[in-house]
Amino acid sequence: MRIVIAIGGSVIVKNKGHEKFHEYGKILKDLSEENELFVVVGGGILAREYIKIARDLGVNEAQCDDIGIDVTRLNARLLILTLGEYAYPEVPHTFQEAMKFASNRKIVVMGGTEPAHSTDAVGAILTEFIDGDLFVNLTSVNGMYDKDPNKFNDSKLIEEITTNEMLNLIKDKEAKAGTYEFMDMTAIQMIKRSSFQTIVANGYSPENLIKAVKGEKIGTRIIQ
Ligand code: UTP
Repeated sequence: MRIVIAIGGSVIVKNKGHEKFHEYGKILKDLSEENELFVVVGGGILAREYIKIARDLGVNEAQCDDIGIDVTRLNARLLILTLGEYAYPEVPHTFQEAMKFASNRKIVVMGGTEPAHSTDAVGAILTEFIDGDLFVNLTSVNGMYDKDPNKFNDSKLIEEITTNEMLNLIKDKEAKAGTYEFMDMTAIQMIKRSSFQTIVANGYSPENLIKAVKGEKIGTRIIQ
């Protein structure tokens, strides 16, 4: 299978430690024996801190996004270092480059591409661009809930949701650097117009990635 995996920055750089890089490195190496892998790494807390500094300096939102992108690429480099010879040694800046680097049969690891969306959107666009079979989005939550799980004890995980239902849920959210929520508009639009499978699962347990690839029930499945 051709698989795109988006890993949230705050997930992989957990508590500024190296452990999650290590755990993901092992799993990705194993999965790469039988699959073609593309990984998109998010910016996490460092991106938000740097975006704040840029915003306080008074620069525009696109420039703030651009600072965020550089941080995502820095995180991507750490994962490349973790993967050693399994990974292509450079971070692609475009989808074309990602495709070119993949022809070396190595795991391709990238961060952001251009302003105005999140790395979730990069993952979704990349999945379409490379004709991927599966997009796994590993975030800091278990998936989508019917109510805010931090506020309601009786909230339930949604096992399956359509792209139209998701678009409805996020239509009033603002688009500002560092604040793109659980799957931004661009990401959902891409999933809607393509036919790849999408699974959103908790990335703090890297074995959820194996479950998603095996087709086991995990997190929230987004359907067209
Ligand atoms: P992410 O969107 O990937 O991180 O990139 P996040 O959602 O804030 O947090 P984690 O990683 O899931 O914990 C960080 C920021 O970089 C900019 C955006 O400002 C984004 O909020 N960015 C990233 C872009 O502008 N374009 C991209 O392609 C990627």
